[in-house]
Amino acid sequence: MKIRLMRGDDVDFALYCTQVENWVSSSPEVFRSYLEYDPAGCFIAEVNDQAAGICIATRYQNTGFIGELIVILSMRGQGIGSALFKHALNYLSNYHIRVVYLDGDLPAVPLYEKYGFNKNCLSLRFIGKPVARSNSNVRPAVSEDIKSIVALDRRAFGDDRSFFLKRLFTLYPHYCLVSEHNNTITGYIMARPGQNIITVGPCVIIDRSINPELLISGLAAYTGDHILRIGVLEINQPAVSYFRNNNVFQEQTPCWRMSWGLKNQTGVVEMLCANGSGAKG
Ligand SMILES: CC(C)(COP(=O)(O)OP(=O)(O)OC[C@H]1O[C@@H](n2cnc3c(N)ncnc32)[C@H](O)[C@@H]1OP(=O)(O)O)[C@@H](O)C(=O)NCCC(=O)NCCS
Repeated sequence: MKIRLMRGDDVDFALYCTQVENWVSSSPEVFRSYLEYDPAGCFIAEVNDQAAGICIATRYQNTGFIGELIVILSMRGQGIGSALFKHALNYLSNYHIRVVYLDGDLPAVPLYEKYGFNKNCLSLRFIGKPVARSNSNVRPAVSEDIKSIVALDRRAFGDDRSFFLKRLFTLYPHYCLVSEHNNTITGYIMARPGQNIITVGPCVIIDRSINPELLISGLAAYTGDHILRIGVLEINQPAVSYFRNNNVFQEQTPCWRMSWGLKNQTGVVEMLCANGSGAKG
């Protein structure tokens, strides 16, 4: 078994891996964005020159994310997943990344704990088709808003993911809205298409006590008949209550937000009403 860097011509294999797992929020664009951002963090495991698994390490300034860890079914249980994961973690720690996050599906949690990751809180997932509603405080974002959006996101996320935000805005401008109060941007929402579903996020709101209703129902005007999929950390109470008390949303099996390394390197997660992924364009 060897681990090599992912290339553009591996995108089909990577997408195949996610489709077999029914990871509906995936798309070719997701993998292209990883490759464009940092090709040195995108890994393929090969056995006898055949691709057997994938893993992506996303390196920000101080924090990192590991995701998309998948080994094809026929090759599981031979240490490939562990090797890929260790490789991704080493890659990030060699760059002095102080804290690494991931969203761990329940069966994979023991694997991550073995490598020193701890559970932070549940990462909840909701799907549903909210009612579209326009509001005079919510409007489509324009390129002049990007600077404010990036600044807001940095406070909430705690690191610079401007590359992914700008890419989302460029690819899917019709799914990018801002809320305004007295000519100041008070929140934003972005979304992208997955497999017959729209993945919502990030969604950030400055006032932590406000739920994402305005931005979600504003977005619904643009997503038409599609089902939306939204992930939010359980500690964001106003957002969680909104999703739980709104009967258009169904709660799916949660996963665990886990971290490795120093604590206190995050932003203000209570501002994040839809996580988005740390690293999905
Ligand atoms: C998770 C996964 C990549 C592990 O790959 P693998 O090559 O089988 O991993 P390894 O052979 O290195 O074994 C890793 C350990 O994790 C366990 N494990 C981790 N995730 C598991 C899963 N989803 N199902 C079953 N076992 C899993 C294995 O039993 C093993 O435990 P052990 O070392 O105590 O025996 C693989 O099971 C997979 O692709 N699962 C589907 C996608 C997924 O769930 N990815 C993780 C999302 S957070």
